[in-house]
Amino acid sequence: MSQPVSLPTLLLIGCGRMGGALLSGWLENDLAERYVVVEPAVGSRPKTLSPHVAFLESPDHLDPKLTPAAAVIAVKPQVMAETLPHYRAMAARGTLFLSIAAGKTLKFLADALGKDAALVRAMPNTPAAIGHGISVACANKRVDQTDRARADALLAAVGQVAWIEDEALMDAVTAVSGSGPAYVFLLIECLTKAGVEAGLPEPLAEKLARATVAGSGELARVSPESAAQLREAVTSPGGTTRAALDVLMAKDGLEPLMRKAVLAAAKRSKELAG
Ligand SMILES: NC(=O)c1ccc[n+]([C@@H]2O[C@H](COP(=O)([O-])OP(=O)(O)OC[C@H]3O[C@@H](n4cnc5c(N)ncnc54)[C@H](OP(=O)(O)O)[C@@H]3O)[C@@H](O)[C@H]2O)c1
Repeated sequence: MSQPVSLPTLLLIGCGRMGGALLSGWLENDLAERYVVVEPAVGSRPKTLSPHVAFLESPDHLDPKLTPAAAVIAVKPQVMAETLPHYRAMAARGTLFLSIAAGKTLKFLADALGKDAALVRAMPNTPAAIGHGISVACANKRVDQTDRARADALLAAVGQVAWIEDEALMDAVTAVSGSGPAYVFLLIECLTKAGVEAGLPEPLAEKLARATVAGSGELARVSPESAAQLREAVTSPGGTTRAALDVLMAKDGLEPLMRKAVLAAAKRSKELAG
């Protein structure tokens, strides 16, 4: 999957936070010769425009014969049903469609775009905005090796990519990596508040919490050691870290709380699916 991919034309539908992050990643990686972006909100468009990008306010302005190699759908889940029918003919002509809309299943996409459409459903996460995201992708039976490599390259432009065969896992994926950045940001908030409680001025507590989470995350990313090994390496018997971990690793500590949180997110993802 690591071969360079260059597409003649790439269509982006919705250029908000995530669509904009993807577009920046594609431009940086020279993924296509030409980009067509359908985005009604002028304010959402990136400030630095490339001459290779054409913005259209509505699909009505698309060349009716346009058949991009791939189209990425990055609109909110609630506008998917009204948006997709505009692209049904394009899907029938062979364009690969990749949707990042949370909870929208391959079946939903096939119902809207046609049962013969080549479809990939993916779940990226917000660190994609700085090229450090992780996306999980799942393809339908119409996606061949070429399309799969294309979808992989589109997502790899903003971080790591993992593929799953069983779409049912998407709810758990959403609960771990999709929603996960919010848990980490909450950890920074909690660590800051606890630092203030322990006597630190708030700006310093916030600086320490932010840098500690960022630095530890980077260490976990580059280290060959497991998270448990990294944790044990900073925990000496009878020391300060041990005293804190005795609280965090108690029976009613972080583990059961995280399990409850992730299961609640997975349940909600299932409820919202369509
Ligand atoms: N942000 C994340 O961390 C994240 C993570 C995983 C998946 N996702 C998925 O990514 C998708 C986009 O999320 P987001 O956070 O980027 O939302 P967003 O910032 O609201 O971006 C969506 C953009 O699409 C535009 N739009 C609305 N209707 C459209 C249409 N018919 N055709 C073309 N563009 C249209 C919106 O314009 P208006 O503002 O004028 O409506 C907006 O600029 C969602 O489905 C979400 O589930 C997001």
